[in-house]
Amino acid sequence: MSGTFTVVRTLGRSDAAHDILGELPEWFGIDRFTHEYVEAAAKFPNYVAVAAPEAAPPGSAPAPAIEADGGKIPSEDVLGVLLVDQRYPTSAEVHLLAVRRKHHRGGIGRTLMRRVEDDLRAQGVRLLSVKTFGPSASDPDFDRTRAFYTACGFHPVEEFPDLWADNPCMLMVKAL
Ligand SMILES: CC(C)(COP(=O)(O)OP(=O)(O)OC[C@H]1O[C@@H](n2cnc3c(N)ncnc32)[C@H](O)[C@@H]1OP(=O)(O)O)[C@@H](O)C(=O)NCCC(=O)NCCS
Repeated sequence: MSGTFTVVRTLGRSDAAHDILGELPEWFGIDRFTHEYVEAAAKFPNYVAVAAPEAAPPGSAPAPAIEADGGKIPSEDVLGVLLVDQRYPTSAEVHLLAVRRKHHRGGIGRTLMRRVEDDLRAQGVRLLSVKTFGPSASDPDFDRTRAFYTACGFHPVEEFPDLWADNPCMLMVKAL
Protein backbone atom coordinates (compact mmCIF):
# COMPACT_ATOMS: atom_id res chain seq x y z
CA MET A 1 0.00 0.00 0.00
CA SER A 2 1.35 3.42 -1.03
CA GLY A 3 0.66 5.47 2.09
CA THR A 4 -3.05 6.04 2.41
CA PHE A 5 -5.22 7.23 -0.38
CA THR A 6 -8.84 7.29 -1.36
CA VAL A 7 -10.48 6.94 -4.79
CA VAL A 8 -12.82 9.68 -6.02
CA ARG A 9 -14.90 9.70 -9.20
CA THR A 10 -14.84 13.10 -10.80
CA LEU A 11 -14.77 14.90 -14.15
CA GLY A 12 -12.53 17.31 -15.92
CA ARG A 13 -9.24 16.87 -14.03
CA SER A 14 -7.10 17.41 -17.11
CA ASP A 15 -4.67 19.39 -14.91
CA ALA A 16 -3.91 16.29 -12.84
CA ALA A 17 -3.66 14.05 -15.92
CA HIS A 18 -1.27 16.56 -17.52
CA ASP A 19 0.99 16.60 -14.42
CA ILE A 20 1.10 12.82 -14.04
CA LEU A 21 1.75 12.10 -17.72
CA GLY A 22 4.58 14.65 -17.64
CA GLU A 23 6.26 12.51 -14.95
CA LEU A 24 6.18 9.39 -17.14
CA PRO A 25 7.94 10.12 -20.46
CA GLU A 26 8.86 6.44 -21.01
CA TRP A 27 5.16 5.68 -21.41
CA PHE A 28 3.69 9.01 -22.52
CA GLY A 29 6.55 10.77 -24.31
CA ILE A 30 4.74 11.55 -27.56
CA ASP A 31 3.25 15.06 -27.33
CA ARG A 32 0.38 14.39 -29.71
CA PHE A 33 -0.89 11.45 -27.65
CA THR A 34 -0.35 13.22 -24.34
CA HIS A 35 -2.40 16.13 -25.62
CA GLU A 36 -5.18 13.72 -26.62
CA TYR A 37 -5.18 12.10 -23.17
CA VAL A 38 -5.33 15.46 -21.43
CA GLU A 39 -8.30 16.43 -23.59
CA ALA A 40 -9.93 13.08 -22.80
CA ALA A 41 -9.57 13.80 -19.09
CA ALA A 42 -11.84 16.79 -19.59
CA LYS A 43 -14.68 14.66 -20.96
CA PHE A 44 -14.47 11.06 -19.67
CA PRO A 45 -15.22 10.00 -16.10
CA ASN A 46 -12.00 10.33 -14.09
CA TYR A 47 -11.22 8.03 -11.19
CA VAL A 48 -8.47 9.65 -9.17
CA ALA A 49 -6.46 8.30 -6.25
CA VAL A 50 -6.06 11.10 -3.74
CA ALA A 51 -3.50 11.23 -0.94
CA ALA A 52 -5.20 11.10 2.43
CA PRO A 53 -4.46 14.24 4.46
CA GLU A 54 -1.70 14.02 7.07
CA ALA A 55 -2.99 13.47 10.59
CA ALA A 56 -3.62 16.91 12.12
CA PRO A 57 -1.42 17.84 15.10
CA PRO A 58 -3.30 17.77 18.42
CA GLY A 59 -5.40 20.91 18.92
CA SER A 60 -5.43 22.01 15.25
CA ALA A 61 -8.53 22.22 13.09
CA PRO A 62 -9.36 18.94 11.29
CA ALA A 63 -8.43 18.72 7.59
CA PRO A 64 -11.40 19.38 5.29
CA ALA A 65 -13.07 16.25 3.94
CA ILE A 66 -12.50 15.44 0.26
CA GLU A 67 -15.45 16.65 -1.76
CA ALA A 68 -17.34 13.97 -3.59
CA ASP A 69 -16.92 15.67 -6.97
CA GLY A 70 -13.17 15.99 -6.52
CA GLY A 71 -13.11 19.27 -8.38
CA LYS A 72 -11.13 21.16 -5.76
CA ILE A 73 -8.53 18.52 -4.95
CA PRO A 74 -5.08 20.05 -5.55
CA SER A 75 -3.42 18.45 -8.56
CA GLU A 76 -0.36 17.47 -6.51
CA ASP A 77 -2.58 15.39 -4.20
CA VAL A 78 -3.77 13.31 -7.15
CA LEU A 79 -1.51 10.22 -7.14
CA GLY A 80 -3.07 8.35 -10.03
CA VAL A 81 -5.77 8.70 -12.65
CA LEU A 82 -7.91 6.26 -14.64
CA LEU A 83 -10.21 7.43 -17.46
CA VAL A 84 -13.12 5.25 -18.57
CA ASP A 85 -14.55 5.39 -22.08
CA GLN A 86 -17.94 3.67 -22.26
CA ARG A 87 -19.31 3.52 -25.81
CA TYR A 88 -21.82 0.68 -25.37
CA PRO A 89 -24.11 -0.33 -22.50
CA THR A 90 -22.33 -3.62 -21.79
CA SER A 91 -18.69 -2.81 -22.48
CA ALA A 92 -16.18 -0.13 -21.55
CA GLU A 93 -12.51 0.67 -22.12
CA VAL A 94 -9.76 1.86 -19.81
CA HIS A 95 -8.74 4.86 -21.88
CA LEU A 96 -5.87 5.97 -19.64
CA LEU A 97 -4.26 4.73 -16.45
CA ALA A 98 -1.24 6.39 -14.90
CA VAL A 99 0.19 6.54 -11.38
CA ARG A 100 2.85 8.98 -10.20
CA ARG A 101 6.23 7.29 -10.45
CA LYS A 102 7.15 7.40 -6.78
CA HIS A 103 3.95 5.51 -5.97
CA HIS A 104 4.41 2.69 -8.49
CA ARG A 105 3.83 -0.77 -7.10
CA GLY A 106 2.01 0.65 -4.10
CA GLY A 107 -1.40 -0.77 -4.95
CA ILE A 108 -2.90 2.41 -6.45
CA GLY A 109 -3.36 1.03 -9.97
CA ARG A 110 -5.08 -2.12 -8.70
CA THR A 111 -7.30 -0.11 -6.33
CA LEU A 112 -8.37 2.29 -9.11
CA MET A 113 -9.14 -0.68 -11.38
CA ARG A 114 -11.20 -2.45 -8.70
CA ARG A 115 -13.27 0.66 -8.03
CA VAL A 116 -13.96 1.15 -11.75
CA GLU A 117 -14.88 -2.50 -12.17
CA ASP A 118 -17.31 -2.34 -9.22
CA ASP A 119 -19.01 0.76 -10.65
CA LEU A 120 -19.23 -0.71 -14.17
CA ARG A 121 -20.59 -4.06 -12.92
CA ALA A 122 -23.28 -2.21 -10.99
CA GLN A 123 -24.29 -0.49 -14.25
CA GLY A 124 -24.57 -3.81 -16.10
CA VAL A 125 -21.24 -3.59 -17.94
CA ARG A 126 -19.86 -7.08 -18.69
CA LEU A 127 -16.59 -6.51 -20.56
CA LEU A 128 -13.67 -4.21 -19.84
CA SER A 129 -10.89 -3.70 -22.40
CA VAL A 130 -7.62 -1.83 -22.64
CA LYS A 131 -5.24 -1.14 -25.51
CA THR A 132 -1.56 -1.03 -24.67
CA PHE A 133 1.83 -1.33 -26.32
CA GLY A 134 2.22 -4.82 -27.76
CA PRO A 135 5.04 -7.29 -27.01
CA SER A 136 6.40 -7.57 -30.55
CA ALA A 137 8.40 -4.35 -30.04
CA SER A 138 10.77 -4.91 -27.15
CA ASP A 139 10.12 -2.41 -24.35
CA PRO A 140 10.78 -3.36 -20.72
CA ASP A 141 8.59 -0.52 -19.42
CA PHE A 142 5.54 -1.84 -21.25
CA ASP A 143 6.44 -5.42 -20.25
CA ARG A 144 5.73 -4.20 -16.71
CA THR A 145 2.53 -2.50 -17.83
CA ARG A 146 1.24 -5.74 -19.38
CA ALA A 147 2.29 -7.63 -16.23
CA PHE A 148 0.08 -5.23 -14.29
CA TYR A 149 -2.93 -5.79 -16.56
CA THR A 150 -2.40 -9.55 -16.43
CA ALA A 151 -2.28 -9.38 -12.62
CA CYS A 152 -5.59 -7.48 -12.75
CA GLY A 153 -7.18 -10.34 -14.73
CA PHE A 154 -6.92 -9.04 -18.31
CA HIS A 155 -6.23 -11.47 -21.16
CA PRO A 156 -4.43 -10.67 -24.42
CA VAL A 157 -6.70 -10.90 -27.47
CA GLU A 158 -4.73 -9.66 -30.48
CA GLU A 159 -1.83 -7.44 -31.44
CA PHE A 160 -2.59 -4.87 -34.15
CA PRO A 161 0.58 -3.75 -35.94
CA ASP A 162 -1.01 -0.85 -37.82
CA LEU A 163 -3.67 0.60 -35.54
CA TRP A 164 -1.23 3.08 -34.00
CA ALA A 165 1.24 4.91 -36.24
CA ASP A 166 4.57 3.27 -35.40
CA ASN A 167 3.77 1.09 -32.42
CA PRO A 168 2.13 -2.31 -32.08
CA CYS A 169 -1.15 -2.15 -30.19
CA MET A 170 -2.20 -5.02 -27.92
CA LEU A 171 -5.90 -5.44 -27.09
CA MET A 172 -6.50 -6.99 -23.66
CA VAL A 173 -9.92 -7.80 -22.18
CA LYS A 174 -11.46 -8.86 -18.90
CA ALA A 175 -14.94 -10.25 -18.18
CA LEU A 176 -16.61 -8.39 -15.32
C1 LIG B 1 0.94 0.32 -14.74
C2 LIG B 1 0.55 1.12 -13.49
C3 LIG B 1 -0.72 1.91 -13.75
C4 LIG B 1 0.29 0.12 -12.35
O1 LIG B 1 -0.08 0.80 -11.19
P1 LIG B 1 0.66 0.49 -9.79
O2 LIG B 1 -0.03 1.22 -8.74
O3 LIG B 1 2.11 0.74 -10.00
O4 LIG B 1 0.43 -1.11 -9.67
P2 LIG B 1 -0.04 -1.95 -8.39
O5 LIG B 1 0.89 -1.66 -7.27
O6 LIG B 1 -1.47 -1.75 -8.15
O7 LIG B 1 0.25 -3.44 -8.92
C5 LIG B 1 -0.74 -4.47 -8.92
C6 LIG B 1 -0.08 -5.73 -9.43
O8 LIG B 1 0.33 -5.58 -10.80
C7 LIG B 1 1.58 -6.27 -11.02
N1 LIG B 1 2.62 -5.27 -11.29
C8 LIG B 1 2.55 -3.92 -11.08
N2 LIG B 1 3.72 -3.34 -11.45
C9 LIG B 1 4.51 -4.34 -11.88
C10 LIG B 1 5.86 -4.37 -12.37
N3 LIG B 1 6.59 -3.26 -12.46
N4 LIG B 1 6.39 -5.56 -12.71
C11 LIG B 1 5.67 -6.71 -12.61
N5 LIG B 1 4.38 -6.74 -12.14
C12 LIG B 1 3.83 -5.57 -11.79
C13 LIG B 1 1.90 -6.99 -9.71
O9 LIG B 1 1.31 -8.28 -9.76
C14 LIG B 1 1.19 -6.12 -8.70
O10 LIG B 1 0.83 -6.81 -7.50
P3 LIG B 1 1.94 -7.02 -6.32
O11 LIG B 1 2.64 -5.70 -6.14
O12 LIG B 1 1.08 -7.42 -5.15
O13 LIG B 1 2.85 -8.10 -6.81
C15 LIG B 1 1.66 2.12 -13.04
O14 LIG B 1 2.83 1.41 -12.71
C16 LIG B 1 1.97 3.17 -14.08
O15 LIG B 1 1.42 4.28 -14.03
N6 LIG B 1 2.89 2.85 -15.02
C17 LIG B 1 3.28 3.80 -16.06
C18 LIG B 1 2.15 4.15 -17.00
C19 LIG B 1 1.46 2.96 -17.61
O16 LIG B 1 2.07 1.91 -17.90
N7 LIG B 1 0.16 3.13 -17.85
C20 LIG B 1 -0.63 2.19 -18.61
C21 LIG B 1 -0.48 2.49 -20.06
S1 LIG B 1 -1.53 1.45 -21.05
